Amino acid sequence: MIYEGKAITVKEIEGGIAQLDFDLQGESVNKFNRLTIEELGAAAEALKSQKNLKGLVVTSSKDSFIVGADITEFTELFAGSEEDLVANNLKANEVFNAIEDLPFPTVTAINGIALGGGFEMCLATDYRVMAPKAKVGLPEVKLGIFPGFGGTVRLSRLVGVDNAVEWIAGGTENRADAALKVGAVDAVVEAGKLVDAAVAIINQCNEGKLDNLARREEKKGKIKLNAMESMMAFEISKAFVAGKAGKNYPAPVEAIKTMQKHAGMTRDKAIEVEAKGFAKMAKTNVAACLVGLFLNDQALKKKASAWEKEASDVKLAAVLGAGIMGGGVAYQSALKGTPIIMKDINQDGITLGLNEAKKQLVKRVDKGKMDAGKMADVLNSITPTLNYGDFKNVDLVVEAVVENPKVKDIVLRETEDMVRDDAIITSNTSTISIDLLAKNLKRPENFCGMHFFNPVHMMPLVEVIRGAKTSDRAIATTVAYAKAMGKTPIVVNDCPGFLVNRVLFPYFGGFIGLVRDGADFQKVDKVMEKFGWPMGPAYLLDVVGMDTGKHAGAVMADGFPDRMKHEGTTAIDVMFDNNRYGQKNDKGFYKYELDRKGKQQKVVDEETYKLLEPVVQGKNEFSDEDIIARMMIPLCLETVRCLEDGIVEDPADADMGLIFGIGFPPFRGGALRYIDDLGVDKFVELADKFADLGPLYHPTEKLREMAKTGKKFFG
Ligand SMILES: NC(=O)c1ccc[n+]([C@@H]2O[C@H](COP(=O)([O-])OP(=O)(O)OC[C@H]3O[C@@H](n4cnc5c(N)ncnc54)[C@H](O)[C@@H]3O)[C@@H](O)[C@H]2O)c1
Repeated sequence: MIYEGKAITVKEIEGGIAQLDFDLQGESVNKFNRLTIEELGAAAEALKSQKNLKGLVVTSSKDSFIVGADITEFTELFAGSEEDLVANNLKANEVFNAIEDLPFPTVTAINGIALGGGFEMCLATDYRVMAPKAKVGLPEVKLGIFPGFGGTVRLSRLVGVDNAVEWIAGGTENRADAALKVGAVDAVVEAGKLVDAAVAIINQCNEGKLDNLARREEKKGKIKLNAMESMMAFEISKAFVAGKAGKNYPAPVEAIKTMQKHAGMTRDKAIEVEAKGFAKMAKTNVAACLVGLFLNDQALKKKASAWEKEASDVKLAAVLGAGIMGGGVAYQSALKGTPIIMKDINQDGITLGLNEAKKQLVKRVDKGKMDAGKMADVLNSITPTLNYGDFKNVDLVVEAVVENPKVKDIVLRETEDMVRDDAIITSNTSTISIDLLAKNLKRPENFCGMHFFNPVHMMPLVEVIRGAKTSDRAIATTVAYAKAMGKTPIVVNDCPGFLVNRVLFPYFGGFIGLVRDGADFQKVDKVMEKFGWPMGPAYLLDVVGMDTGKHAGAVMADGFPDRMKHEGTTAIDVMFDNNRYGQKNDKGFYKYELDRKGKQQKVVDEETYKLLEPVVQGKNEFSDEDIIARMMIPLCLETVRCLEDGIVEDPADADMGLIFGIGFPPFRGGALRYIDDLGVDKFVELADKFADLGPLYHPTEKLREMAKTGKKFFG
């Protein structure tokens, strides 16, 4: 044994060749935590001091190679000063450099996923062999940073600027064939033969057939481009990547700038440049938010896994109503492997639902994601019906009929009589209280909400809503079914609108007020899109549909009349009254026309301004700041209320719900983190400035208390 630690062991395997094996004790995967880096340094020392070694093979004893850095250490690490971060990176890089400088040929055997720091480890050795199913990449930009263990230096020299930009600025995970093509790895071999292949490479080096030192020098030298080529490669990619990533995500462009800066330098100087750029990015609020988001997502996954342990099996599901939502639920369930019965009361509905599923499947086949045989299997696992024939075999039902409490009441009671006593019944209602719907049920313990978002196959969130009488088994089974469908479930308590719509409608309330006070709805859209929303509020209303918006708005107003009831006619009323329902009938705040490719295009319609005249009281010019404040304060305050009322369990659930449910800008981390970042006291001050606009803008007493005591939602 040459070295033995808790994450790494090094031993001689054959003919003077050593094996350095990553196997982090007590963890299911290898990751670069502090311990692993320290041990790697010690292992490198031990290897250097050995006499007569002929080579090194780096391996992993886990299914994955190394999944990346330990992100749970980031928040604390990034809280340090920029100087500390630079020093920290340089220290870690000494370890990677020591591996790179070992006095014999080195090869990494990449058996599984090698991402971030894991792939930077691979880059430190002279050669890389990779299993066909493994994946490699540097996805750091997804956390608002870029590689900091020499990745920008080594990869750009190994695969060239264009490829390095694509991998690093795009944060792509790359398959073996792609990695081989650009030269990021040297061979692709079956997992069981990786070590043999690595040993063969080492032997060839020692026999003089391969020149590992030349390879090493290439990685440690300057990028081989003349000034003109360099300028072209970097400037063009900077412009392209800036356009794609947008101003709100600075890391991809900074990564390119960093590579440009160190292009003419050799390794040690280049690593210093990388460390400085890395530290700058690690100190941005974007990085803090994206790291927070990752951790919240992990927490959410843990909660869902805990629920899954208590779940009953769902071998057969059913959906009631084959409309937009019912059709989507049937498709998604079948696609992910749970057969489903789709019931409607009229044949047209069924045809529509099946056609919708077919359309999605054809798209998959066209994109090469599925073959015709699999498509037929999926379609066959959707059983359309007009009656309750097979419902005795059903384990879980999703009710997705029209949003009308009376209709739903009848349908739910009818269903309860048709299914087994232990079957779980859920409703996809978007606004109606689960307790209200449970009122006439015989087994309310088996009932809860299962709120999907439109379009079902695209939107990741499912709100699982617990009524007063809902059992843990019902929640657990619904959570497990949502996960089986590939969705992210969040368990919330019952109230009108639950979490997502309860928070969305106050945001629309902000919009209605702005238009009333003379703001140009197009400007509001532009400002909010620049802020980071995927679409502005007027455009979003067009997508949701004015009928749905008006109807759900009325339910919310009933539930929270003090702040969600609007006096007089609103902009939404005007659109609705003029049959401008939005995208569904090609006219809402905007007009929708087909472009040459047959795609629906949003176009400005002067008519909208004329129609809105009666509701506009005065002409005001609003600054971008005021628009943002008037839109965001109601949304943020309602999120605070959801937390205080126990609708969500914790701030992480609330923020993730908004990111997954309505596309809250991820780089801002969510509504509660946004308040934290402004400063709770500053946020309350800002809200008070708009107090005249009514209760939507009035902070809760608890929030005022937090402002006084300096408490935050996170950390
Ligand atoms: N559309 C959305 O954006 C959206 C998003 C989330 C949740 N929801 C909710 O999903 C539910 C369905 O909405 P949708 O947009 O799919 O409506 P939809 O009008 O497209 O479909 C409703 C379907 O239910 C059928 N139906 C009516 N009574 C029935 C009965 N007794 N038994 C079986 N089928 C019956 C109708 O024939 C129709 O096909 C509503 O509760 C809605 O609030 C909708």
